[in-house]
Amino acid sequence: MIIAIDGPAASGKSTLARALARRLGLTFLDTGAMYRAVTLAALERNLSPAEGAECAALAATLRLGFDPEGRVLIEGEAGEPAIRSGEVTRHVSEVAAHSGVRRALVEAQRAVAAAAVEAGGGVVAEGRDTTSVVFPEADLKVFLLASPAVRAMRRAAEEGRPELAPAYEADLARRDAHDSQRADSPLLEVDDAVRLDTDTLSPEAVLDRAAALAAARRPG
Ligand code: CDP
Repeated sequence: MIIAIDGPAASGKSTLARALARRLGLTFLDTGAMYRAVTLAALERNLSPAEGAECAALAATLRLGFDPEGRVLIEGEAGEPAIRSGEVTRHVSEVAAHSGVRRALVEAQRAVAAAAVEAGGGVVAEGRDTTSVVFPEADLKVFLLASPAVRAMRRAAEEGRPELAPAYEADLARRDAHDSQRADSPLLEVDDAVRLDTDTLSPEAVLDRAAALAAARRPG
């Protein structure tokens, strides 16, 4: 079974996808972590995030994997917490806008899903293009919504720095705009996605709804 969780930055995609994968016994696929991993590797190699060809070549050759908890491995080494640094966060949308980078990572994401399905399981994939581009044939598509203020508050609280919420709101707005306006695979709410507004639902309520939808659509 393939489930795709889409939506803007910090709308709760990772929280839902991780919990849903655990509940359903499926593989959690964090596509954002892969874009972050390529961005980190590019910065470490002094490549400019603006250089599409160089970033694409790196994305095609960098060996990415996942540990059993679904945390990204870069050339076999833990990508966390370095992939969440402020510097990576500032540059990731620019790196993710290059078509060559997206081609390489989408291919890798489909390979992870194919292997999981082949093994009798499946994936819960999260990321802004998973419903529209990566898995258009997903058994279930969910689009998470949350207001910018709520998303910024959650992100800041996660890091134990609630005073940073206003700065985060500006960063989220910038990334939303960049992700929505890019030519290749913009953030998009597809017609056949189920919309869940997380401003008004607790994380548990969102999980329960998504799990019920998944149970109804489980193939075979
Ligand atoms: O901070 P947040 O959890 O929302 O972002 P993330 O999932 O870690 O992804 C970081 C960035 O990678 C996003 O802002 C997008 O620019 C890019 N991305 C993408 O283009 N396509 C995906 N499927 C996932 C992430």
